[in-house]
Amino acid sequence: MEIQHRLHECRSCANHTTPCPAPGWPRLQAPLLQDPPEPGPCGERHPGTVNVTRAHGRIVGGNAAPPGAWPWLVRLQLGGQPLCGGVLVAASWVLTAAHCFAGAQNELLWTVTLAEGPRGEKAEEVPVNRILPHPKFDPRTFHNDLALVQLWTPVSPAGAARPVCLPQEPQEPPAGTACAIAGWGALFEDGPEAEAVREARVPLLSPDTCRRALGPGLRPSSMLCAGYLAGGIDSCQGDSGGPLTCSEPGPHPREVLYGVTSWGDGCGEPGKPGVYTRVAVFKDWLQEQMSAAPFSHEPSCRELLAWNPKEEPLAEAAPPCAFYAHLCPGPAGACERLAHQQCLQRRRRCELRSLAHTLLELLRGAQELFGPRPGVRRLAPALTRPAPWLRDPPRRPSHEQRLHPGPRAAGTRFPKRRSEPRAEANGCPGLEPLLQKLATLQGTHAWILQVPSERLAMDFHEVGPQAFQTPSQCAQKARLGQP
Ligand code: ARG
Repeated sequence: MEIQHRLHECRSCANHTTPCPAPGWPRLQAPLLQDPPEPGPCGERHPGTVNVTRAHGRIVGGNAAPPGAWPWLVRLQLGGQPLCGGVLVAASWVLTAAHCFAGAQNELLWTVTLAEGPRGEKAEEVPVNRILPHPKFDPRTFHNDLALVQLWTPVSPAGAARPVCLPQEPQEPPAGTACAIAGWGALFEDGPEAEAVREARVPLLSPDTCRRALGPGLRPSSMLCAGYLAGGIDSCQGDSGGPLTCSEPGPHPREVLYGVTSWGDGCGEPGKPGVYTRVAVFKDWLQEQMSAAPFSHEPSCRELLAWNPKEEPLAEAAPPCAFYAHLCPGPAGACERLAHQQCLQRRRRCELRSLAHTLLELLRGAQELFGPRPGVRRLAPALTRPAPWLRDPPRRPSHEQRLHPGPRAAGTRFPKRRSEPRAEANGCPGLEPLLQKLATLQGTHAWILQVPSERLAMDFHEVGPQAFQTPSQCAQKARLGQP
């Protein structure tokens, strides 16, 4: 994935569509688009794509959006499989639904595809650096269903992707305001997902109306609902994490993000509007996370794997290790050594995760070449996407409410791996070391494919259980008898 990303960067830089990046650590800083706290331009749609949302367009069953109509709409992929929508809120931050990551919080497995351009310019795929689910997200009730995703490289100001505006006040527009939803979600309940972005206008509904329609499962403190009580127009499975935006009128209208698609009872059913996480009430948490000092978070695996401990002198705390040095109360010299050790330890755990990831890729490749083997088939779905019950609140109080496994529950497709021409390594700084790393990794772990697949499933979970599922999720799976 890193190799593909590096090649992509080199190609765009050769075409002068983006500035030429330096390889590896430190990550790039976008020159114009700012991450908070500096507010940059936001919420501006590309000319020619505005006012195209038809009053009765719908995601369920409806209308395709023109290319580039929603420059902040992104797609989240787990192991190459599109799983959720997301919204670009700053140069390197995407806001999405926390339930998208239930069962798969390993950042190494996720990528984000940015919006395509208004003239169909190709969408860019960026690796994920860090996933920050809201600490109070409750997977049982979908309370606080929000997560921030930090991109490995910030979006280029020269590209088509642009951030949306975040609400500046805790208040939302009044009930009845026509807002917009967009995504690649299902065209109807349990139906196929859209090939292109779809959009719809939906009115915000009052908390009372939402409560009456959806019962106690609707928590107005962190959820709002929008749609038509008559049914027919709604978001659906696969739209989760995507935007609910309302236009702020004025000489330069801007789109402000008030909701993130979270859940629903069916799709477009009469009396059952869609539910969205209220973004305005999380304003402080969002600011805090996005403007946190660079090393106030534990380094991500992606950061640690980009760091080469052999090249860093021990005397100065290596950038990704600075976090551990801050935690240490002792004298500076001793602390630096301790921080370095802790850092190396975590890096080793990350290498194991990354090995698990490589193993998965190898298995995918093998499955493509030789067809599925029984043990592999059993292992793969659990790794490529969260289980279906994690895509909707598992049990909501009203017994009429149904679960919607979504179209992907039926089977798992493995995307074709693109082979990268070795010749391109010349003239692409940073690519050759990545290719060498891959070759070494493939050499060291060739034994993996010799292990019988049944044993492999067991070994895999032993290697990195926390990377894929928590013990409670395992217990939940066992209860529900799912793979
Ligand atoms: N939970 C769904 C997902 O993971 C989104 C469902 C939205 N449903 C609705 N009726 N508005 O994609």
